Amino acid sequence: MSTTFGATSTAEEVTEGLDLTGTTWLVTGCNSGLGNETVRVLALRGGRIIGLARTKEKADHALSALGADGVGVACDLEDLASVRAAVTTVSGLGPLDGIIANAGIMALPKLEQVHGIERQLFTNHVGHFVLVTGLVDQLTPTGRVVMLSSGAHHYAERGMELDNLSGETDYAPWRAYGRSKLANILFARSLAHRFGTTGRTANSVHPGVIETNLGRHVEDREGMYDRLRHLLKSIGAGAATQVYVATHPSLAEVNGVYFSDCTPTETRAEGRDDDLAAALWTATEELVQGI
Ligand SMILES: NC(=O)c1ccc[n+]([C@@H]2O[C@H](COP(=O)([O-])OP(=O)(O)OC[C@H]3O[C@@H](n4cnc5c(N)ncnc54)[C@H](OP(=O)(O)O)[C@@H]3O)[C@@H](O)[C@H]2O)c1
Repeated sequence: MSTTFGATSTAEEVTEGLDLTGTTWLVTGCNSGLGNETVRVLALRGGRIIGLARTKEKADHALSALGADGVGVACDLEDLASVRAAVTTVSGLGPLDGIIANAGIMALPKLEQVHGIERQLFTNHVGHFVLVTGLVDQLTPTGRVVMLSSGAHHYAERGMELDNLSGETDYAPWRAYGRSKLANILFARSLAHRFGTTGRTANSVHPGVIETNLGRHVEDREGMYDRLRHLLKSIGAGAATQVYVATHPSLAEVNGVYFSDCTPTETRAEGRDDDLAAALWTATEELVQGI
């Protein structure tokens, strides 16, 4: 089995020869883009899927369209009652070999808020925080958490702005998206510290640049993808890094690392700041207690 993969490797290639029979994988955003391809390939290798989407209908439809063995579960990340209900439902579905926190939204043109929190931060980070912390005890002893971050975390040039979780101070679409993706890195880092040497791991990934529904909120979507054409990956290559980090046997002990193109990659400085990661964890915990 090859252990050298890169930008053009596909999710099928990084799992070639792997038999996932008897394993179970939770994937958020299973109905679209990279999440859908992740489900397809994990199922192709024999994995059982717990597919999460905003509604059970969307999740069930995605799984049945792919012929994937598994269960669809409703989980609207903007609605913590829905997220907590998903945790309860999933808790009856047996041990999890991996959680791939993949759902996300990008670059909302104007400030929108959920419970007073900037909406990208809420969906991409807060919703996943409640979901993943609610399910960690259900991971197998070697279970893996993979957080979808982005190279766009570099746009968070003001860092986490913990004093501006509302986004009201000087809102900028890409900076806000970048901050939410920095939060995904810091959450994975905190989880990794908590896991220590238990055998469980948490890592984060940049999947590359892939034309998906993620661009739906970008005002000049066509222009953006035209300008990025030289960088674009196929959906298959886009899903490779998360599938690789979730499943590859060579990564069993890799914990707290950020990957891009199936390769460990350095984040911006804030992504390596353990005090900031701890502060974000505390702030998020306090925030969700009140909702
Ligand atoms: N594509 C890229 O170039 C790129 C680059 C870097 C990072 N990423 C990251 O990769 C991940 C997957 O992106 P993608 O490109 O596959 O995008 P996508 O095709 O738009 O898929 C995003 C998924 O997230 C779901 N979602 C959004 N808001 C949700 C909510 N409130 N509750 C539950 N589910 C919600 C969407 O559901 P609906 O279909 O119902 O809206 C969809 O299933 C994201 O985290 C993104 O930040 C992507």
